[in-house]
Amino acid sequence: MVFTFAQPRQLRIGGGARSELGELVSGLGASRPLLVTDGFLEGNGAAAELMALMTGAGLQPALWAETVPDPTTDSLVSGLAALHEHGADLVIGFGGGSPMDTAKALALLAVQGGRMADYRAPRRNDGPALPVVAIPTTAGSGSEATQFTIITDSGSNEKMLCTGPAFLPAAAVIDFELTLSMPPRLTADTGVDALTHAVEAYVSRRANRLSDALCLTAITSIGAHLRRAYADGTDRAAREALMLAATQAGIAFSNSSVALVHGMSRPIGAHFHVAHGLSNAMLFPAVTAFSVGSATARYADCARALGCASVADDDAQAAESLVAEIGALCRDLAVPTPEAFGIDEAAWTATIPTMVQQAIASGSPANNPRVPSPDDIAALYAAIYR
Ligand SMILES: [Fe+2]
Repeated sequence: MVFTFAQPRQLRIGGGARSELGELVSGLGASRPLLVTDGFLEGNGAAAELMALMTGAGLQPALWAETVPDPTTDSLVSGLAALHEHGADLVIGFGGGSPMDTAKALALLAVQGGRMADYRAPRRNDGPALPVVAIPTTAGSGSEATQFTIITDSGSNEKMLCTGPAFLPAAAVIDFELTLSMPPRLTADTGVDALTHAVEAYVSRRANRLSDALCLTAITSIGAHLRRAYADGTDRAAREALMLAATQAGIAFSNSSVALVHGMSRPIGAHFHVAHGLSNAMLFPAVTAFSVGSATARYADCARALGCASVADDDAQAAESLVAEIGALCRDLAVPTPEAFGIDEAAWTATIPTMVQQAIASGSPANNPRVPSPDDIAALYAAIYR
């Protein structure tokens, strides 16, 4: 079987890698980058550090720090204006998934115009777009290495998945030092997101041999380090391992796919403003239990990689131990149910039909080893509420 594999042309990986940003941008032929970030990273001085690095390298950077969590079509308007006003020739996405996804969307709109809804899946976007440099500050989304962006339609509240090489960063800076100040909740949610990427990419119907290896390596690393980083955010070895694992998982799912957890997670985030990693975590144990019997050997590989089963266990035992371990991990990381998160039960129940429809429309459930019916998805949403 022929498969296509794509990843950023250049990855700069390691503590302090951000100090090479100026040279990296120049090497891509750009001189007027727009640094896209959020108010938090502007306020704590991290954006100013990158601006100074680039200015010191002879570039003329501009800063736009108005990214919002779960970026919306409305939020892109002023970013696009800032980009055109500066005459930017490259866009830097600096932050968690939201600033990186925003940067990707702006880079495409800057060249092609139109509305993000024009570019939503199942359309495949081959370009052109301005080059993007992605600099993650969480170890989770993998957006630095994916050919996806997710933008919420301000009118319908739907999270639109947009795909294609046009959204693949030209380069990424993977500097774990940027993650050292993440609080435990964010460490947990982003870490579970990365683990979900790796497991879903491995069990996906669209898995391939190259992404498989990245998935298993990432699963092993996250299993060994996520609880450590959650307990002690200053654990540099754990932070470094999780950062690399998140990028590996990102490369993997960009070339394979995510599946049912992500398909069901996006509508929860859109309607109830639950952070992406957390809505994944709410779903991960139940969706894995639902799916595990349809790809037992694949889930067993994940269990052995995670360290909760051995070669002595048969596949069925190993797969069941994965379900148990994912549940235990989410408990150890204090993942709340939707009820405990504070979502009203009547609102949850009333929104299930819309969430089911949007989950299916995203295409992700069709990649799941066990392809769910609409009733299956509705039952899973109902089951995880409390
Ligand atoms: Fe994700």
